[in-house]
Amino acid sequence: MLEKLEQIKKTALTALTGIEGEEALNKWKTTHLGRSSAIMDAFKSMGSISKEDRGIMGRTANQVKLALQAALDEKKDALHQAAIQHALQEEKIDVTLPGYAIPRGRLHPATQTLREIYRVFADMGFQIYRSREVETDEYNFQLLNFPPHHPAREMQDSFYVASDADRGDNPILMRTHTSPGQIHAMRELTAEAPDNPPPVRIILPGMCYRYEQVSTRYESQFTQVEGLAVGKDITFSDLKGTLSDFARRMFGQDVASRFRASHFPFTEPSAEMDIECFLCGGAGCQVCKHSGWLEILGCGMVHPNVLSNGGYDPERYTGFAFGMGPERITMLRHHIEDIRYFWANDMRFLEQF
Ligand code: DAH
Repeated sequence: MLEKLEQIKKTALTALTGIEGEEALNKWKTTHLGRSSAIMDAFKSMGSISKEDRGIMGRTANQVKLALQAALDEKKDALHQAAIQHALQEEKIDVTLPGYAIPRGRLHPATQTLREIYRVFADMGFQIYRSREVETDEYNFQLLNFPPHHPAREMQDSFYVASDADRGDNPILMRTHTSPGQIHAMRELTAEAPDNPPPVRIILPGMCYRYEQVSTRYESQFTQVEGLAVGKDITFSDLKGTLSDFARRMFGQDVASRFRASHFPFTEPSAEMDIECFLCGGAGCQVCKHSGWLEILGCGMVHPNVLSNGGYDPERYTGFAFGMGPERITMLRHHIEDIRYFWANDMRFLEQF
């Protein structure tokens, strides 16, 4: 019997040495330590052993069982360690290899300018007001003091959305400028407080569309940023102060600006603002066409008709408005000579910003 136990132990341990995987190990456990294993059979047969021998047999069988159990645990541990070593070998990272260059996205140059404009006006207390891109003739022109057939309309050839004869002289079109947002914004505020509407201080950014012959200078789609301030006692000095401050914050503290008289139907008086050429410092260069000045926006005091179309009593309220083109400003800043680059999606162009 003692020999038999020794044999059981030997067989089991020999079988264990060849095992390399978890599955095989579980099988080994069933075969050599399970309910119908040889060692368990040995325990079961203890009853038929003489009393004198039972003690030593029992102890030996126990030792064999414990030895097998210990060998199993050891093997388990060894397999686990081997698996870790294997993984460490296999998944080793060579930190000396050069990395892959991940192409980084960036903001479109016109968006970068747009965001700078937002930042400057936000600092001055202006809020952003978003207005629709599809408009009616009424909002795009009539309420802004362009009567039907007014010659100023010809500067803004339109894309009409639907040729609906029923709409008469109020067809639907893609907005040609952001100015109609002025009326929407004012009407929204006066709808709530018709007798005492609150002051307005907003910028209105967005896409505009014109039926243009596309060239180096004109695109049929472009961005504008409109501005509107309405309140009591707003004067032309406020306009000049705000816009020259904008120019300094945007282009540099030393940049001079000047205002030239101009004409827009929705402002009276109207002006255009130039800034000192930031490329040549005013000495004259190709970009400023040797004038030393760059035109960057149109502006003026809101026309009384426009104020009352927005619901603001022109006897009690005044305001100023302005409009600028971020693409144009971007072109001046970066010396870009063709506006068509903005929509060409050419990586060689976009990657430069
Ligand atoms: N709407 C004008 C345009 O598209 C730009 C403009 C000029 C807007 C003067 C204004 C302004 O608000 O006061 O050409």
